[in-house]
Amino acid sequence: MTDATQITLASRPQGKPSTDNFKLQTATLPAVQDGQILVRVICLSLDPYMRGRMDDAKSYAKPVEIGEVMEGGAVAEVMESRNTDFKPGQIVVGAFGWTSHAISDGEGVRVVDPEQAPISTALGVLGMPGITAWVGLNDIGRAKDGETIVVSAATGAVGGVVGQLAKARNMRVIGVAGGPEKCAFAVEELGYDVCLDHHDHDAKSLSAAIKDAAPDGVDVYFESVGGKTLEAVLTRMNTHGRIALCGMIAWYSGQGVADAQPLPAVWRNILTRRLLVEGFIIFDHYHKFPDFVGQVAPMVADGTVKFREDVAEGLENAPQAFLDMLSGGNFGKQLVRVGADPA
Ligand SMILES: NC(=O)c1ccc[n+]([C@@H]2O[C@H](COP(=O)([O-])OP(=O)(O)OC[C@H]3O[C@@H](n4cnc5c(N)ncnc54)[C@H](OP(=O)(O)O)[C@@H]3O)[C@@H](O)[C@H]2O)c1
Repeated sequence: MTDATQITLASRPQGKPSTDNFKLQTATLPAVQDGQILVRVICLSLDPYMRGRMDDAKSYAKPVEIGEVMEGGAVAEVMESRNTDFKPGQIVVGAFGWTSHAISDGEGVRVVDPEQAPISTALGVLGMPGITAWVGLNDIGRAKDGETIVVSAATGAVGGVVGQLAKARNMRVIGVAGGPEKCAFAVEELGYDVCLDHHDHDAKSLSAAIKDAAPDGVDVYFESVGGKTLEAVLTRMNTHGRIALCGMIAWYSGQGVADAQPLPAVWRNILTRRLLVEGFIIFDHYHKFPDFVGQVAPMVADGTVKFREDVAEGLENAPQAFLDMLSGGNFGKQLVRVGADPA
């Protein structure tokens, strides 16, 4: 029997979440049954989609129930295995949740090769955010070499990869990020041509700044935020431009929705510019994972694609780190160190 430290959903947020919506508890896990594994979590991923799981609303995935362990991807070490696909000591990645230990039937669990890259990258550049960037740029955004792209949340887990993959395709890459430090990092480390600080702008001045940065207009918009950034980019899209609709974090907790541009204005822009707007949820594309890793892992290994991680220490600090991430407090892929890394 193993005791697990867990964070559960204590209550549903009304608008912006707070630490009161989470509860830290200890639970004794049952004995491992045939077909199951017991894992010790090393590193937990915090992702914006978790905000949606806190609401009891119809969506593409079912909500976390009150009292349930918060959902989340994690890298872990197999401690005990009664599943022939896994051996004790292996490093794996799976949806183990906000917990120190978990029992799993192995469904959706993948073995991580510690020789390929640091194991935490299985939650970032070589994991869900990385494949989201790759699919969103290539399959949804239909990016072509030499085109101009705007990337929102430009230094984040997804956006940071989009910008670098686009640069590797010889595109003109314009980032939008929050703060001078993030913008400097986008240009100096990630290779963006320009990065605009959305804190310095309203929608109108951001649109003017995008015009200066993209004199030939914008062919692809990698949309992760909504709000004034969407409003600004829409007016700069070229005819037959594509919008890869990946997320809209500015609106996840309902703030700013009332100030948003009315739908008819947006709709008119889509019509007159003949835009292709396609929403996508990455789990529809997981069958492409081997192709993604085959292409991007070598780019990570040779430094073409860099990654930055923002690591909170201790599971008990996950709620605050999550709340900070929702308002731009993270700088790079947000992780939580839960247990020792054997590497
Ligand atoms: N469709 C899918 O399957 C899929 C998969 C993964 C992620 N996503 C989406 O992709 C987006 C990025 O996710 P991520 O994991 O890479 O997170 P992230 O970019 O590492 O972190 C979130 C970032 O969003 C930005 N942000 C927050 N509030 C904002 C606001 N009001 N206006 C503008 N920017 C704001 C902040 O960056 P700044 O400080 O730079 O503003 C913050 O750091 C999210 O919308 C997420 O839901 C979608």
